[in-house]
Amino acid sequence: MSSDAMKWFKDAKFGMFIHWGLYAVPGGLWKGQEMDYIGEWLQAKYRIPAAEYAELAEQFNPVCFDAEEWILIAKAAGMRYIVFTTKHHEGFAMYHSKVSPFNIVDATPFKRDVLAELAAACEKHGVKLGIYYSQDLDWHEPDGGDPGPTMRNFDMSWGNDWDFPDRSAKKFSRYFEGKVIPQLTELLTNYGPLGVLWFDCPVSISKEECARLAALVKTLQPECLVNTRIGHGFGDYGSLGDNQLPAARREGAWESPGTMNDTWGFKVNDHNWKPACELVGQLVGLADKDTNYLLNVGPGPDGRFPAKATEILQDVGRWLDQYGAGVHGSSGNPFPYDFAWGRMTVSQGGFTRLNLFLNDSVGDSLTLCGLKDRVRRCYDLGHTERDLPFSSVGQVLRIELGALSRDGLLPALAVELDTCGLPTVDQRLIPQNGGVRLMASLGKLQHGELAAATGEQGVGAAGESLRTGTHSRLDDAGALVDWHNPSDSVAWDVVFLEAGHYQVEFVTHSRGHSRPWSDGQSVRLSFGDVQWDVALRGHVTGGGCYAQGVSGAGELVIKDAGEGTFRVRMTDLGDPQNGNMALEEVRLTKIK
Ligand code: GLC
Repeated sequence: MSSDAMKWFKDAKFGMFIHWGLYAVPGGLWKGQEMDYIGEWLQAKYRIPAAEYAELAEQFNPVCFDAEEWILIAKAAGMRYIVFTTKHHEGFAMYHSKVSPFNIVDATPFKRDVLAELAAACEKHGVKLGIYYSQDLDWHEPDGGDPGPTMRNFDMSWGNDWDFPDRSAKKFSRYFEGKVIPQLTELLTNYGPLGVLWFDCPVSISKEECARLAALVKTLQPECLVNTRIGHGFGDYGSLGDNQLPAARREGAWESPGTMNDTWGFKVNDHNWKPACELVGQLVGLADKDTNYLLNVGPGPDGRFPAKATEILQDVGRWLDQYGAGVHGSSGNPFPYDFAWGRMTVSQGGFTRLNLFLNDSVGDSLTLCGLKDRVRRCYDLGHTERDLPFSSVGQVLRIELGALSRDGLLPALAVELDTCGLPTVDQRLIPQNGGVRLMASLGKLQHGELAAATGEQGVGAAGESLRTGTHSRLDDAGALVDWHNPSDSVAWDVVFLEAGHYQVEFVTHSRGHSRPWSDGQSVRLSFGDVQWDVALRGHVTGGGCYAQGVSGAGELVIKDAGEGTFRVRMTDLGDPQNGNMALEEVRLTKIK
């Protein structure tokens, strides 16, 4: 992969995901029933026969579709690329395919190649075109991917087992050679340069088939990036789980796909819109971790974006017009932990600037510990003429925030350093304003003797590698997984600069898309001669596919400045069959 391709992607930071297909017609409603899952899964949810589902094409006539309008909305929102669903799990091609008549030109009254129009609009307005292609699942085809009844997506089957229940009659290679390869060849040949090929849900595809897909992309479009949801460890950049914030900053290029409400494909009654300030918070939270935000819009059956989505995107765009210099082209937080007060990115270009994005809890001043560079100037990032007074003693920088504008979606300030290089930061764990987050990725892993049972679990629906090894390890998002060996432990050395009281909590999440977060595990946390036993718990949040949990441990009193070691050990494994829990961090929040 050329460094140019990686560079545009990493600099872009913000892209638009567009889920559009036949599912936009029913919009989450089917025969008087209303679905409680993401809209593009309607066919699987109601087990709609492929022939009946295909009739939706006759009603698909999005006369208000205007490719240029879509691209201009994306561009004004500060998005630098789009990823458009050219074939989702329903199997319907949203472009003119010669491979199957089940496509928007041949099967609908609309008869227009929307992908061609989008490609032209992208080219005209300097937005990169990416496409989504569901390479494994295809509910329209008898041979579409089907991992069988042992693997379920909540209460649904992944493959079409309602029309085609006989798995022994299915031949995935027939579908792969007959539809996937030729359709991808069309897509990679007929629509100009593609920035990204976005694969999804590798639930039954083989390693060899994934290798072929990757090679096909590179042969036809060497500059086109591939996401890791292609499966089996292939891909140029990592796709995180839906709506996922990574636990840690990691090497390489990353992206997190997110929803604006609770669905990808249009749903008539999903009005649970995230406010613009939450989306901006997620964008800078991801930028802090060198991760792009691919934010979804699900256009309706008339071809328009939901009005509310457009309105929110306009607000996000207005904020980025003012503060985007701290987002686009930036690199992640140089400190090895998250801050309780907000997020940080770094901008460079003949100068070096820390961009600090503040949450509501920040008062009149902010203290930053551990910065070794000399500070030249602090100012309001959105009003660059407004200086903020600061003082710096040793590695402790104190900034007065009285002049900072707080009326935008998210206040942000700039700290300009007396260097053009990367900032120099004390990499030890030092509690900052508010506390310190002991991320799993920063802990020292110690592997003990005793080995638990091992087993190969393969690839998850979002491309996660769900290996069950003998010992714990870090996953792609920087969380600690495979944590079922009681002799393993993880430890952090922490430097306390002053006395204080801290609340101690565990932050965990479920490891695989739609897999249960198994309650029942317990851990023991120790610090010096203090010890806490904690039962971990989880609950489903946000997009619904990855359960998350925050489990309280207790209070820690630090009497004097000094150093100490936190150590965590698993004491009760819960159900070893589950093993799906991932530890993100132990959070120490300063309470006094
Ligand atoms: C999940 C869903 C799929 C959606 C994707 C977006 O994989 O199954 O429908 O397109 O997330 O990231």
